[in-house]
Amino acid sequence: MALTTELSHLGVSDDVDRRTDIEKLQWALMAHHKAARTLRIADQIDQLLQGVCESIVTQKPYELAWVGFREEDGSKTISLQAKAGSKVDYTDHLEVGWAEDSPLGRGPAGACVRTGQPVIIKDSAKEAVLAPVLERAVSFGLQSIMAVPIFKDAQSVIGVLLVYATVPNAFGDIEVHLFESLADDISIGLRNIERQKILDTEINKREAVQQQLGDALRATIEAMSRTMESRDPYTAGHQARVAKISIALAEKLGWSQIDKEALYLAAMVHDIGKMGIPSDILTKPSVLTPLEMQLVQQHADLGYQILKDIPFPWPIAEMVRQHHERLDGSGYPRKLKADAILLGAKVLAVADTLEAMGSHRPYRPALGLSAALEQIQREAGVSLDSEVVSAAFALAKGDNSLQAILDARHV
Ligand SMILES: [Fe+2]
Repeated sequence: MALTTELSHLGVSDDVDRRTDIEKLQWALMAHHKAARTLRIADQIDQLLQGVCESIVTQKPYELAWVGFREEDGSKTISLQAKAGSKVDYTDHLEVGWAEDSPLGRGPAGACVRTGQPVIIKDSAKEAVLAPVLERAVSFGLQSIMAVPIFKDAQSVIGVLLVYATVPNAFGDIEVHLFESLADDISIGLRNIERQKILDTEINKREAVQQQLGDALRATIEAMSRTMESRDPYTAGHQARVAKISIALAEKLGWSQIDKEALYLAAMVHDIGKMGIPSDILTKPSVLTPLEMQLVQQHADLGYQILKDIPFPWPIAEMVRQHHERLDGSGYPRKLKADAILLGAKVLAVADTLEAMGSHRPYRPALGLSAALEQIQREAGVSLDSEVVSAAFALAKGDNSLQAILDARHV
């Protein structure tokens, strides 16, 4: 088959050391096969190009392979991107270009980039016309040279793959076609890496925005929590302490980060419904009347009403509504039982009990952590989830972090 090149007519010699077609084909096929494997696994451009060059030169007599990119600078240079082979010194200080009117552009690489066609030098020693350009190749014993274009799309050449052999006439039509197909694979590989890079940048941006949104959500919830507690100084810090205990329990229970995040948010606003309860009832130091108690108990539903339209990715509003429900149906507002109660609400129930009993209040001293633990132990499996209670005991046994949370005045 005919190859249109600027140079191919120049150097076919009858007395070249002709290899059998089978041998030549084997070299090219093996090089193509190994390079294709590299192309599949490379995820960086330099790794891809270097891998391809190294794969090619595993086949003797291919002793040098390099890839250059067409630069759109004033002097139309070809920048060397990767190189490999025992004759790699050939490329030291090698200056190549693709300008037709420059000596640097008259070699096979330049002609290939310029025309978008493969260029074959069958015997560099006999290319009289190109002698000055090929002198260096001859001095390195590089007798056959093949340049194939790397396309960006059907028209634009973005680079060139050069393969050198230490025997003459190493590249016939079939071999050139194999390397052309390899150059197409390089082009696809480059495009894929570029696409992946764009995708990775997009993903990183989205992750940063998501992180920021998460931080903003947390800060908003914390602001809501503080605003709400400013009405009720007697329980200032209660929600934050419950949140800390809840997270510590969830950690003992082996919860995922994302589930802990949801629990934290729910805990920080679990009593937000108290905003709808008259503050003189909330702060009443004496025992509440049944009617007042009924009003206070409405805070679970009120909290749900406040939060239910916020599109949280978790059932925050429902956890808030259920934080006073109890396994045996003795809770409120809906007297839910066992499995009807969200696990998050079960954790909140234990954390709320521990905090309420263990923490100091201006109108009464703390009842103490041991009293609180005794209380939840009695309720384990009755009104409180026994696994969550066990987690609380494990927490209390481990160190004094539970006590430290309870002692914190401002959290
Ligand atoms: Fe509550």
